[in-house]
Amino acid sequence: MDRYIDRLMAKMTLHEKIGQLNLCGAGDVYTGPVVRSNIAERIRKGEVGGILSLKGVDYIRSIQEVAVEESRLGIPVIFGKDVIHGYETVFPIPLGVSCSWDLEAIEQSARIAAVEASADGICWTYSPMVDICRDARWGRMSEGSGEDVFLGSRIAEAMVRGYQGDNTYRRRDQVMACVKHFALYGASDGGRDYNTADMSRLRMYNEYMPPYKAAIDAGVGSVMSAFNVVDGIPATGNRWLLTDLLRSDWGFDGFVVSDASSVVEMCAHGMGDTQEVAALAVNAGLDMDLGSEAFMRTLEKSVDEGRVSIDKIDQACRRVLEAKYKLGLFEDPYKYCDVSRPAKEVYTPEHRAFARRLATETFVLMKNDNRILPLRKEGKIALIGPFLTDCKEIQGTWSPSGATEKYTPILDAFRTAIGDRAELLYARGCGFEDEADEEQIRNYLRDKGADFAYRPGTPEDADEAVRVASEADVVVAFLGEHEMQSGESSSRSELTLAASQRALLERLLQTGKPVVLVYFMGRPVVMDWETEHVPAILNVWFPGSEAGDAIADVLFGDVNPSGKLTASFPRSVGQIPIHYDELPTGRPLPEGSKFVKFTSAYLDVPNTPLYPFGYGLSYTTFEYSPMTLSADRMTEEGTIEVSVDVRNTGDRAGDEIVQLYLRDLVGSISRPLKQLKGFERIHLDRGETRTVTFTISADLLKFYNADLEYVCEPGAFEVMVGPNCMEVERRRFELIK
Ligand code: BGC
Ligand code: BGC
Repeated sequence: MDRYIDRLMAKMTLHEKIGQLNLCGAGDVYTGPVVRSNIAERIRKGEVGGILSLKGVDYIRSIQEVAVEESRLGIPVIFGKDVIHGYETVFPIPLGVSCSWDLEAIEQSARIAAVEASADGICWTYSPMVDICRDARWGRMSEGSGEDVFLGSRIAEAMVRGYQGDNTYRRRDQVMACVKHFALYGASDGGRDYNTADMSRLRMYNEYMPPYKAAIDAGVGSVMSAFNVVDGIPATGNRWLLTDLLRSDWGFDGFVVSDASSVVEMCAHGMGDTQEVAALAVNAGLDMDLGSEAFMRTLEKSVDEGRVSIDKIDQACRRVLEAKYKLGLFEDPYKYCDVSRPAKEVYTPEHRAFARRLATETFVLMKNDNRILPLRKEGKIALIGPFLTDCKEIQGTWSPSGATEKYTPILDAFRTAIGDRAELLYARGCGFEDEADEEQIRNYLRDKGADFAYRPGTPEDADEAVRVASEADVVVAFLGEHEMQSGESSSRSELTLAASQRALLERLLQTGKPVVLVYFMGRPVVMDWETEHVPAILNVWFPGSEAGDAIADVLFGDVNPSGKLTASFPRSVGQIPIHYDELPTGRPLPEGSKFVKFTSAYLDVPNTPLYPFGYGLSYTTFEYSPMTLSADRMTEEGTIEVSVDVRNTGDRAGDEIVQLYLRDLVGSISRPLKQLKGFERIHLDRGETRTVTFTISADLLKFYNADLEYVCEPGAFEVMVGPNCMEVERRRFELIK
């Protein structure tokens, strides 16, 4: 590779080298200000290193032909896309997928996404998104794995393995992954997108950085820099972040791409003019400019003026060429352009079946009074809500390759599931949101090229829904966020159900019929009212292309729900940021009390979340035996085994996610009250018991101390095991010298 690239670079002009650093759109899906261009002409001139967001292998192949046959050096273009939670087979949003805690299935979902994307011409995906987030106001929480650093890190690794396989890219269905958004993007102030993130190095190293590092240790090929500042300097121009930490400390040897237009956006951050910010970025260690054309427009001048060394340009160019080399594009530029593949490999029955099963694992049963669920397929079942007849609202954010015309609307899936065993009644009942957002949703659907005429709810819709509900034996209300109410640039300051939806729900409850709420959401929401009034609630996030079948599977009990929350659900927005792994205070609120003067508490709301991290019910019940420890002391070289017997005490088979938490009781810095350090997803038949064993090694006890050294400190620890972070049994052990 080195020799090949040496020889190639020896032939390249400075203009062509900078061209390799240019990643541009061709006018398709894109979020920032698009700098439109005649793409073919620019490729011929050697001004395009990569293109993003195209769909269709024929189209991509024709562009690659221009690069290979009509540009001076024939360097192939790299084609990237946001393949975030599937391609045409769309999996639930990543936050939903994380609630499966099923690492094998998560890896498989990335693998299927890689197969489909690569069949359609894509060799590079802007995933996984591993930004830790404890602020549900931030709409992009939907794209990550929730609040937890340990689970988030394991998922980051699984996703990289799924996309990249063994990291050799020998197969033509392995694509390069891109971990993002480096770094701290999920910690924006006030949950407002693109806003400032600022935190201590301790928090950074212990709580926010590990998932990025896990992806890098797993061999991820590329990194995307974040929009926000890190220590006051935009990530895209932050030398400490992109070079000292990423390359010197972590040993990353792939390439770094900016986020959309984030190079030129450094002007708005107050870092200088276009030429200055482009120089800042490349000097900091950024290799590729996504969409802003700032490199293309100014780097030659900066080299002339001595603001950027030719070595810096060479280094960045080399990294981009290395990625192309590793992907095998120099050997075969059409490796990912086999036009016969999509028909056989995209949206296949196998992929769909897998997506359906995975979706069922992501649903979280929040409540199930009087065991209303599962529903029986008999009598009259009323399905109410705006999500039922069109698939455009249920794929979830960042699914630009989705083919909604191929998917089955929820109503149709329920018809199939029920056959003639029960009667299905339907009414739309309401729209998605209240006035302010209706307009946005309409515009969004129009931008998506939707043939769909968005219609807000009317009073007549609600009346009809109530009439339909009154005729039924059971009412299922499908309510919640429209998919565009979470995701990028979708921060919200209120997280409750839209007023019109709440009003409808209230009227449905007044009919006296049993009501089940199927709640769509792209983030934790505030559901205190619903919890108080609705007997059964199933959170389904945005379930993707197989939504209808998956929801029917779970509501009718063909699949027992098993998902558990990966983010705390607050009682009110005022509790945010909220996360289970907080530090103790010097004035803890006594357990069980709501408020005690002069302790750390709110006057008007308990400290606890409404639903804690790790929470989720099943149609069966599980009983945990007291845990046993193989020893109560260990050395740094030693281990302790923690075992617990879990028994299925209900009347049907089900999956349980058993969780292990640790607390370092005394340290050189204050340590969290508990931290997830292990989990296992087990299947238990009715009456079956299984022993789950976790091994505690020094690795699980390590943290970054005040000098940012990664250490474990001798002393007492608490070990906790349970079905969620609150219902745990506690034991102690000691780490000795
Ligand atoms: C988003 C990224 C995405 C990129 C390219 C940006 O707006 O922040 O997550 O990968 O666009 O489409
Ligand atoms: C308060 C201080 C005060 C001190 C002595 C503490 O509870 O935080 O502001 O000066 O008591 O009364």
